[in-house]
Amino acid sequence: MSAQQLLPLLDEHIPSAIAIIDQHDEDDAEYAQNTYKRSLDDQYGLFLETQLVGVSGFTIDQNDIAWISWTYLDQNHQGKGLGSFMLDQIIDKIHMAGGRKIFVATSDYQETPGGPLLYAAAMKLYEKHRFVREVFHPDYYDEGEGQIIYGLRLKTGSSIPDTPSNSPIKLIGNGLITETESSWFIEWQNEESGTGNWSVQNLRAVTDDAFSKGATSTFISIPSNKIDFIIADLVAAGYKLEARLADYYADGIDEMRYRKLKNQQPNQT
Ligand SMILES: CC(C)(COP(=O)(O)OP(=O)(O)OC[C@H]1O[C@@H](n2cnc3c(N)ncnc32)[C@H](O)[C@@H]1OP(=O)(O)O)[C@@H](O)C(=O)NCCC(=O)NCCS
Repeated sequence: MSAQQLLPLLDEHIPSAIAIIDQHDEDDAEYAQNTYKRSLDDQYGLFLETQLVGVSGFTIDQNDIAWISWTYLDQNHQGKGLGSFMLDQIIDKIHMAGGRKIFVATSDYQETPGGPLLYAAAMKLYEKHRFVREVFHPDYYDEGEGQIIYGLRLKTGSSIPDTPSNSPIKLIGNGLITETESSWFIEWQNEESGTGNWSVQNLRAVTDDAFSKGATSTFISIPSNKIDFIIADLVAAGYKLEARLADYYADGIDEMRYRKLKNQQPNQT
């Protein structure tokens, strides 16, 4: 049996890593190239003897939430159990880094309408490793290509939430979600002092501004412990709850993802 090992990715491996990703997805290869140049922290390569045949990695945030990054195998080495080996090792590393929960995003892309899902093997792999499908955003990356997010709980007990439930909200602005063609985010922050600028009018204004710049839909993410204070405004501005990431901010505090589609009329209140 050939020795397979997951080892930290080094600068000298970047060209081979990019070539593997590029076999599957040119855009991801370009994106990965830039990210790898910035940092190789928690990025790994799967080696058969000395040959790099796969990549995977993760980032972990202050809420002990880990996101798995590009996970790709050389096409000549797919379907032999190496994906499972690599994912097991990544889960162990996240566990050792103190991860509370893992998320991984994928898409429902089909090369031909009604044809097979491009990421069927990845979905099967995650489900086999007990990941649960938590989020589906239709037409997220582009028309006809939705986002699916899987979650895996590693441990209970959590970091202290940094999301005071009733602090004033300051709407900051909007921006394109870079991995998408025309899905935009609405940005906000908790105000430590002051009264914030949250209102239905301001939410409508920042949303309409995104639509005028080419957004086809806008997303705003709200911690579940804050939602009671603003739910009426979200609904009045035409937002609908589309999905939630369970225990995202802390145990018992989910990320609630609201979305508004362009040309959708605000609800009457
Ligand atoms: C996803 C990927 C890493 C999985 O690695 P792999 O080594 O091919 O997968 P494994 O051999 O470990 O098999 C995992 C499971 O998927 C199944 N599977 C493999 N190819 C499949 C396919 N084309 N369709 C459906 N299921 C498939 C296997 O049968 C296995 O399940 P089983 O053990 O119950 O039989 C690899 O196929 C890959 O690089 N795919 C392209 C890139 C990609 O999709 N990356 C993820 C982006 S989110």
